[in-house]
Amino acid sequence: MNNRVLIIGALGQLGGIFINALLKRGDFVLASDIHAPNSNTLGCDFIILDALNEKKINEIILKHNISQVYNFAAVLSAKGETDPMKTWEINMGAFLNVVKASLGTSVNCIFWPSSIAVFSEQSGLDLVRNEVPMFPTTMYGVTKLAGEKAMSYFNTKGLIDIRSIRFPGIVSSSEPGGGTTDYVVEMLNAAKQNMNYISPLREDTVLPMMHVEDAVSATLKLMETEREKISISGAYNLGSFETSPKQWSEIIASLGYELKLEFNEDFRQSIADSWPKKIDDTLFRKDISWLPKFDAKSTAEDILRLI
Ligand SMILES: NC(=O)c1ccc[n+]([C@@H]2O[C@H](COP(=O)([O-])OP(=O)(O)OC[C@H]3O[C@@H](n4cnc5c(N)ncnc54)[C@H](O)[C@@H]3O)[C@@H](O)[C@H]2O)c1
Repeated sequence: MNNRVLIIGALGQLGGIFINALLKRGDFVLASDIHAPNSNTLGCDFIILDALNEKKINEIILKHNISQVYNFAAVLSAKGETDPMKTWEINMGAFLNVVKASLGTSVNCIFWPSSIAVFSEQSGLDLVRNEVPMFPTTMYGVTKLAGEKAMSYFNTKGLIDIRSIRFPGIVSSSEPGGGTTDYVVEMLNAAKQNMNYISPLREDTVLPMMHVEDAVSATLKLMETEREKISISGAYNLGSFETSPKQWSEIIASLGYELKLEFNEDFRQSIADSWPKKIDDTLFRKDISWLPKFDAKSTAEDILRLI
């Protein structure tokens, strides 16, 4: 049976790619965000919807007989540090309102992405396993960890089925929205436009990354999996490849682009220093039988082709 999907926060870095993948699979897709798109090239219906407005979300779910909600509304790690209280209000408010608006309706499953921002030095950053001590250093990470605990509660109590992946930095042709890993996309854009790039992270800062298509395929596979095969009540680790600004610039150079890289560390360096260098996603790969399609080089090559 095809799903009837509502995407909340659909106009960000990830939304458009999910819309295309869900439409391609034959699902009905209703995209929404707090503001209107610049042009309606989304390929599906669109409505303005504030993720903090529980009543309106509930009305939309009932009106369109929605079976799945993808909740992407969030303030990301770097942007979130400029106003931590607001970041808490938006991220937790969006999480809870979507859950409350879905209870007792046709919604049978919610996808809510978490992030590698839940981790910290105490997590063992060289290779981070799924269940480790977590003391996030950003308010964004705090809201992701709090959401993970809440989803675990809802799943365990059988109130509603919520699924989640801790995404690494996502590499896409769409604009990133204010995260600590935005430099991977910004460097590709600079290379394509023949411009210099000033990296906010030190040249040797290694972080886990992933081609957006792999993030989408992993998510859709997780959403299709029978609940009994999902061995955890919280979020899954997910990894693909690791890179640093220097290694990424070398990959870009190997693809024939001249990119002059300079460095000017800012507050994002200390965030990146508290994040994993490598993710252990054995559990996800075992439960969901999934493998990434792209490595670092093929990701850079593919995204450079698209931008
Ligand atoms: N992009 C990444 O590298 C990455 C990595 C890990 C996790 N994630 C998670 O994936 C999800 C999507 O990320 P993204 O990169 O597309 O983020 P983004 O910042 O690019 O987009 C978020 C969207 O949410 C919308 N939004 C904000 N407040 C809203 C509200 N009150 N109501 C409705 N919409 C609202 C924004 O307008 C924006 O279009 C987020 O939960 C994010 O934490 C992303």
